[in-house]
Amino acid sequence: MATEINILGIETSCDETAAAVVADGRIVKSSVVASQHDLHDRYGGVVPEIASRAHIERIYPVLAKTMDDAGVGPQNLAAVAVANRPGLTVALMVGVTAAKTLAMVWGKPLIAVNHVHAHLQAALLAQPDPALPAVALIVSGGHSNLYECRSAVDLRLLGRTIDDAAGEAFDKVASILNLPYPGGPSIEKAARQGNPKTVDFPRSMLGPDSLDFSFSGLKTAVLYHCRGQQMKGESRVGSMSPQEIADIAASFQAAVVEVLVAKTLRAADRVGARTVVLGGGVAANTALREALQQACSETGLILLVAPKPLCTDNAVMVASLAYPLFQAGWFADLSLEPASSSE
Ligand code: KG4
Ligand code: ZN
Repeated sequence: MATEINILGIETSCDETAAAVVADGRIVKSSVVASQHDLHDRYGGVVPEIASRAHIERIYPVLAKTMDDAGVGPQNLAAVAVANRPGLTVALMVGVTAAKTLAMVWGKPLIAVNHVHAHLQAALLAQPDPALPAVALIVSGGHSNLYECRSAVDLRLLGRTIDDAAGEAFDKVASILNLPYPGGPSIEKAARQGNPKTVDFPRSMLGPDSLDFSFSGLKTAVLYHCRGQQMKGESRVGSMSPQEIADIAASFQAAVVEVLVAKTLRAADRVGARTVVLGGGVAANTALREALQQACSETGLILLVAPKPLCTDNAVMVASLAYPLFQAGWFADLSLEPASSSE
């Protein structure tokens, strides 16, 4: 039997400290995610300084547990991989420093992984050879990107958000509605009790040919709905019934989902795609998963979706994407730096 290629992946780009050992890019031997949601909740979003400090505190225990759970030692590892971009540089710095240190001390190759591309990989774990060409929608707290993919490592950006990312819109609207951070799961939970037809929020399509996204107008529309067009006086949210909040959440979610699905199908049509791939934190949203599945079924497209626990940030996707990079010999050196930008 051929020896397994075990790769240790490290992820600290935002507010999850995560590590995983994945064999041959597909077999998850261990995965540990230490979330910091409790630390950022009162601010309604991630505070970089707090995130960075928490990563420093958690990285060693997370790594120790990951190696322990996998039952491997450094001698069983082929490489150490880390998401070094995009993200908060002060947060990425912790993972990058840990990865560089381990690679140096253990004498292993270091692999730099793009965090957004890794989100796509989470959807390819179960099906690494999708029918091509494929279009990928990666929707997270920082990105709303549409790609044409010819392979897991050959991606062409087709469209992106021109203002807020989809997850950012969920987080900001949750904050407007006094729902807890992170906003996506809170809005989804509230929306389950609501009627999505209550408020006709705008669907920004940015012209008939555009593959870009814009969510800030939608967020502002929710704000106006809660505070009045003149933005005078207090928000009405405090005096709204749970049903009213649920109706607004459902109407907002329906607007986001409709735009995401429409643009993804537009992109699929543009490149003649056979497969659609969905990943990123917002891909955990059941309404989005179901609407995209229905649209793909109606148009004869195959949909590959990341399993829910691998939609939000994790290191399985990092270790998994590192495997084809390892095979291609795309190694980084110890001068590797974190970078906030995507490409
Ligand atoms: O991918 P991710 O964990 O981190 C980034 O790379 O940004 O995505 C986090 C984002 C947050 O904005 C969060 O509100 C959103 O994903 N999210 C969701 C859901 N779960 C997480 N959005 C909608 N519905 C969800 N169930
Ligand atoms: Zn992410």
